[in-house]
Amino acid sequence: MSDDTRPILFFDSGVGGLSVVAPTCALLPMAPIVYAADSAGFPYGTKSEGEIAARVPALLGRLAERYHPRLIVIACNTASTIALPAVRAALDLPIVGTVPAIKPAAQASRTRTIGVLGTEATVRQPYVDDLTARFAADCTVLRYGSAALVELAEAKLAGEAVAPDAVARELAGLFGQTGGDAIDVIVNACTHFPLLEDEMRAVAPAGVAFVDGGPGIARRVAVLTQGQDWPREPVVHQLVFTRLGDREARIGTHLRAHGFASPETL
Ligand code: DGL
Repeated sequence: MSDDTRPILFFDSGVGGLSVVAPTCALLPMAPIVYAADSAGFPYGTKSEGEIAARVPALLGRLAERYHPRLIVIACNTASTIALPAVRAALDLPIVGTVPAIKPAAQASRTRTIGVLGTEATVRQPYVDDLTARFAADCTVLRYGSAALVELAEAKLAGEAVAPDAVARELAGLFGQTGGDAIDVIVNACTHFPLLEDEMRAVAPAGVAFVDGGPGIARRVAVLTQGQDWPREPVVHQLVFTRLGDREARIGTHLRAHGFASPETL
């Protein structure tokens, strides 16, 4: 058996993709990880489709040249719902995208009312219309785009406190809509949001369930890498930012405890 050190590359605008890394590492504990955050382009959710489409394939091309991954996970709903076909066309590698987990949410909902919580860019994508029509046609699907929750998740991982009021205000964007009090499942349609799940549960109505794409992506990565070799010894994961400022340095310090080397810049 050979010692295959080619990593899996996870890409997001910031720390959100770590919510996809965690279930993947749980399934594939020997997988070497490169985690790439486009901190210079953060946040994506308030950008136009054109900006995301121009930025993401080019960056992933540079990252693929530098790190030679065996597979790339776009661990970002915003980038995936806008740029996945362009990335797949540009790179000769398996690319796994992250799209809103509307299907499992519709399967789990008893009230047939689900909330989709994403970035402003994600919730307006036709991709979300398609997923709703295919998997939740008999549900009322309410959407809310939150830039504030993205910021709060970044702040949390940089060691800052998260104010419960700020989280509650964003959830009110869903529950405050007409019919919103019937929501029993929330789709975390931004990879940053599972990082705030404890804070969201603390302020959400009792019994509301949260679903996200992380576990499904981990299973998909396991299928796509089935039969491949992994390093015999655990390797240190790599962390790369497109801009390395104070906040990124603090995030880097936090991630050292999770097996990541000091951050690099692209
Ligand atoms: N984590 C990203 C997503 O899943 C985007 C957050 C942002 O940069 O606005 O959509």
